[in-house]
Amino acid sequence: MKDSDRSFPNVRVVTHPLVQQKLTTARDARTGSPEFRRLLAETAMLMAFEITRDYPTHDIDVETPMGLAKGKVLRTEITLVPILRAGLGMADGILRLIPHARVGHLGIYRDETSLQPVVYYNKLPPDVAATEVILIDPMLATGGSSVVAVEAIKKTGASRVKLLCLVAAPEGIEKMMAAHPDVMVYTAAIDSRLNEHGYIVPGLGDAGDRIFGTE
Ligand code: PRP
Ligand code: URA
Repeated sequence: MKDSDRSFPNVRVVTHPLVQQKLTTARDARTGSPEFRRLLAETAMLMAFEITRDYPTHDIDVETPMGLAKGKVLRTEITLVPILRAGLGMADGILRLIPHARVGHLGIYRDETSLQPVVYYNKLPPDVAATEVILIDPMLATGGSSVVAVEAIKKTGASRVKLLCLVAAPEGIEKMMAAHPDVMVYTAAIDSRLNEHGYIVPGLGDAGDRIFGTE
């Protein structure tokens, strides 16, 4: 993984070969929903290692069958916040790795004409402000959805927020950096551009449709 992308100080590109191989198969137009869903979950699980790398821990003692060992546990709880629908596909993978994480849900869709985000559901855990928050959405396109999602999370008082996506467009990264410069974006790829419909090129198409078979 690069320390940071040179032109985007708020971005960490996860270049691990397994992540890149899974992303490549997910991008392939011939990959069907069941495999696409599995790949997104697995990629998210691998990327969670990078996202959580700097989470604070404290030392504890643990009694093994043979004696006392020094151990470490996370100091704060973790909240996953998938943006519906597509974020659900990645949240599933991370939950396998961090089963004790809380899960908040933000329902946001992009108006097809204006490309503006529309928030239709907001259910965050009551103690989210005291936790490390991972906002999850595979696609950072114009950035509208993720930016309003971070606003909703910050309204609770939460201040430690990271964004996990799979593919990011430069336009979305810039929008996030301007609105929330404190939010680090973890992605597997930065693609070249958006097309006239706001889709990432080359991207992977409509993530929600490919996960749920609604194409
Ligand atoms: C997609 C995607 C993001 C959003 C990204 O959701 O999952 O949430 O678009 O676009 P943006 O960065 O330009 O806001 P979509 O609106 O297709 O909703 P869905 O997940 O319910 O299909
Ligand atoms: N949403 C998607 O699912 N894909 C894109 O390329 C852009 C927005």
